[in-house]
Amino acid sequence: MNSIYLCGFMGCGKSHIGRMLARMTGRTLVDLDAVIVEREGMSIPDIFAQYGEPHFRELEAKYIRELSDGYIVATGGGALINDSTAEFARKSGLSVYINTSFQNCYMRIKNDKNRPLVVNNTKEQLEELYNKRSEIYKRNSMCMVNGNARDIIICTEIIKLAKYFEEHGTI
Ligand code: S3P
Repeated sequence: MNSIYLCGFMGCGKSHIGRMLARMTGRTLVDLDAVIVEREGMSIPDIFAQYGEPHFRELEAKYIRELSDGYIVATGGGALINDSTAEFARKSGLSVYINTSFQNCYMRIKNDKNRPLVVNNTKEQLEELYNKRSEIYKRNSMCMVNGNARDIIICTEIIKLAKYFEEHGTI
């Protein structure tokens, strides 16, 4: 049984939807950021501050490769921007882009001190990053759901997509 990788911008609902999906499917939810923090013994802001963003991207690429065994994986917002990570996810299961409007994402993340990109960028810069990444999420994931819909609708849609891909032998 392969994993379901949830991707999308910070605040799009990856962890929240992941928790609900895990309950609905009986799969285990794994949060990629939490794996990195646990294995490195450092917080994400500390990793960014001490070793820089490129190093954090390497950690994402490394640890996601341990998560192909039937999990629901809530990836970090930058993980599937990396083409080789995205290819790994495509080969190891189903990658789903949760497409949530910038306004909704921003409302959820704007006061979060644990997200270095939020702390270090203005709202305008984040919106620019959001727009740039949107195209990449679309290109790098296998399917997309409307993240502005109600939670239950989003989860039902993802479960339907997983069945479809499973039945067609893609995952
Ligand atoms: C990041 C998103 C964060 C976390 C890190 C970098 C990003 O995860 O991995 O702060 O580049 O978008 P969430 O998407 O869960 O906030």
